[in-house]
Amino acid sequence: MAEIPLKMKAWVYEEYGDVSVLRLDEGISVPEIKEDQVLVKVVAAALNPVDFKRRQGRFKATDSPLPIVPGYDVAGVVVKVGSQVKNLKEGDEVYGDINEKALQSPKQFGSLAEYTAVEEKVLAIKPNNLDFASAAGIPLAIETAHEGLERAGFSAGKSILVLGGAGGVGSLVIQLAKHVYGASRVAATSSTSKLELLKSLGADLAIDYTKENLNELPEKFDVVYDTVGLGDTGSKAVKEGGTVVGIAYPVSPPGFIFVLTSDGAILTKLNPFLESGKIKPINDPKGPFPFSKVVDAFSHLETGRAIGKVVIYPIP
Ligand SMILES: NC(=O)c1ccc[n+]([C@@H]2O[C@H](COP(=O)([O-])OP(=O)(O)OC[C@H]3O[C@@H](n4cnc5c(N)ncnc54)[C@H](OP(=O)(O)O)[C@@H]3O)[C@@H](O)[C@H]2O)c1
Repeated sequence: MAEIPLKMKAWVYEEYGDVSVLRLDEGISVPEIKEDQVLVKVVAAALNPVDFKRRQGRFKATDSPLPIVPGYDVAGVVVKVGSQVKNLKEGDEVYGDINEKALQSPKQFGSLAEYTAVEEKVLAIKPNNLDFASAAGIPLAIETAHEGLERAGFSAGKSILVLGGAGGVGSLVIQLAKHVYGASRVAATSSTSKLELLKSLGADLAIDYTKENLNELPEKFDVVYDTVGLGDTGSKAVKEGGTVVGIAYPVSPPGFIFVLTSDGAILTKLNPFLESGKIKPINDPKGPFPFSKVVDAFSHLETGRAIGKVVIYPIP
């Protein structure tokens, strides 16, 4: 194994703001690991909306101190293990969302770097059929998709409407509902050019929100999973006694919003579905963006039009 340097390249910002605050720094200290952490040599990372919302200062009150190296999702190789680490060893190929609580003091030194220090419990062994660039986009989005379905009490034989089916989270909600939970019927929304993608993921019904009024759908669903924040659209489409689960504001009562918890055990549980090909990573066709193009990757994600995940690869 190559020697671990003292300094590394990382993307960093020293003040909150738009993409112009991002800077590639070649002299960031490689993080020290705590007893329960491993040091990961980052091979690929992925962006999530929380990365730019955080950079914009929207979560200032509970953020870690500046300067901040952004990045939640990582896929890479373990190069050092803390004294209390039980299951991981040097050389393991791992992936995960490095922040157990997305908004409560997320790490100051994230995954958009050559190395990142991560608790063992938020990591899992990377699915053996996926390369690093395909694995990197999975963790935060699939854990959010899974937690929302669990919180909604979703189970086999139920129907679901996914608002925002082509995004990072939505593309995985469709696949989990259909191929893991055994949904009786999956409907999902997107703009016109993404309808075929929704069907390929397992949607029985792909609804073009640019042409149909979602507030007047003829069909009702047991669960509505709102990844967009469409307010009472969800409550109008849910059956009486059904559940609306949301991850972005606003969601109207009786719907509820939650913030995900990162947990490597969920990834381990879902790995067989990834390894069998039942669940496929969807990476935005404009990517992967090389490490030097992180600003372009953020700009693309911030259009709100990304398809699946925006991945950063390779990382030097
Ligand atoms: N609470 C949590 O724990 C949690 C966790 C993860 C994410 N989030 C939040 O959830 C939201 C979604 O995250 P994400 O990672 O899935 O975002 P994303 O990947 O950036 O979503 C982009 C997708 O959203 C679709 N979209 C935008 N407006 C739409 C609309 N009105 N109807 C249908 N589709 C629409 C776009 O499709 P079109 O181009 O076809 O419109 C695009 O494909 C973000 O606000 C994020 O911050 C929260």
